[in-house]
Amino acid sequence: MSEPSFRTIIEPFRIHSVEPLRMTTRRHRQEAVARSGYNLFKVHAADVLIDLLTDSGTGSMSRDQWAAIQHGDESYAGSPSYYLFRDAVRELFPFEHVIPTHQGRAAERIIFSVLGGPGKVVPNNTHFDTTRANVEFTGAQAVDLVIPEGRDPQAYHPFKGNMDVSALAALLNERSADVPVVFMTITNNSGGGQPVSLENLHAVREVCDAHGKLLFLDACRFAENAWFIREREPGQAGREVVDIVREMASLADGLTMSAKKDPMGNIGGWLAMDDDELAEQCRNLLILTEGFPTYGGLAGRDLEALAQGLREAVDHDYLRYRIRSTGYLGEALQRAGVPVMSPIGGHAVYLDARALLPHIPPLQYPGQALAVALYEMGGVRSCEIGTVMFGRQPDGSETPAALDLVRLAIPRRTYTQSHIDYVIEVCEQVAQSSGELTGYRIVEEPATLRHFTARFEPLT
Ligand code: F0G
Repeated sequence: MSEPSFRTIIEPFRIHSVEPLRMTTRRHRQEAVARSGYNLFKVHAADVLIDLLTDSGTGSMSRDQWAAIQHGDESYAGSPSYYLFRDAVRELFPFEHVIPTHQGRAAERIIFSVLGGPGKVVPNNTHFDTTRANVEFTGAQAVDLVIPEGRDPQAYHPFKGNMDVSALAALLNERSADVPVVFMTITNNSGGGQPVSLENLHAVREVCDAHGKLLFLDACRFAENAWFIREREPGQAGREVVDIVREMASLADGLTMSAKKDPMGNIGGWLAMDDDELAEQCRNLLILTEGFPTYGGLAGRDLEALAQGLREAVDHDYLRYRIRSTGYLGEALQRAGVPVMSPIGGHAVYLDARALLPHIPPLQYPGQALAVALYEMGGVRSCEIGTVMFGRQPDGSETPAALDLVRLAIPRRTYTQSHIDYVIEVCEQVAQSSGELTGYRIVEEPATLRHFTARFEPLT
């Protein structure tokens, strides 16, 4: 008998421990956001109803992860929790050296401290902000070489996160001696959570081999990327996600990981690689700022939770639900005529604020206006990814960012379909009254990374 099929893809879990949500009024939220200088990073989380600021460290751990925490061994050196963690990492990413860090950017700081430096250039499909900042902090240059479709919010491509292989080859032909490593971010967060194909990874590997270059993965959404490969890449449909992940790992020389995403941690990260000498240099830096190599900035209990989280991250029922639920939000918004980046990525839906609010010029921050409106209307917290984040130039001038987007990032296993239905309604209501929204001006900002702390005022 064939399996019956159903349209509804349910959450493959039920709720075991509940966290209350605090209901607020529109008046309360208007006051809260005004007090915060119209900066959602400054709003107290207790004043947020549905928090889509980030999918990083905000997921729900499972019963088995909480149980694993009780097994945490807090020995300073050689904790059994480390070996359990190392072996769980190697099940998926069979690298010789596995070096725990407190989160992804710590791994980035260490690897670029060793490989970066003035005059160097690091290509990536698209650097995430902390990755770019850590490359540039060493004096090196970070270049983004995503395929042209990856820069167009409306263009369809099944693997919009792919590297432009000919641009990479051209860079290496010209400046091979300056390139210490090539990075691939899977999925491509800054490009809309878009996946990279196995074919593209193979092609990048070939170019790296031709020039004798290291290839590293920025791998925090590896399982979502593997699911997209299974769903979209010819010949991959029948494969286990675990096998696809191992194939991705086999094409790389190492990786940096933020364990706050697909590995289901509230904190954590690691560096992995095969090269003994490089690992030795990384461990020496690790000891300076993170800790001894068998805990590296984490408690034994965190390592236990991650080991279990990694097993859950590659479960097919979970991934089917995860990718479908992000698509569910995005497709409902498309049907309602709200402009979103397409195709819908793995961990987030990106609203195109510039398209929705054509009457607000980029230098009056349409993304900020939309993010504040979503909060005021329904207590939904999102994140501006546009001119507020990228507009201030190193020379002090201000220019519009390439796009003005608002990211609705979905924490893992945290909100149910009715929460998402509510988010859809909030977006629809804001879109219906979008003509009434006004822009903002910045009244106070720091010299760098202004989006975290700037204060705004609405223009009337
Ligand atoms: N790489 C990518 C692709 C990321 O998305 C992030 C974090 C990092 C590295 C850094 O990891 O936060 O553990 O230090 N992204 C979060 C976000 C903050 O909201 O997208 P971290």
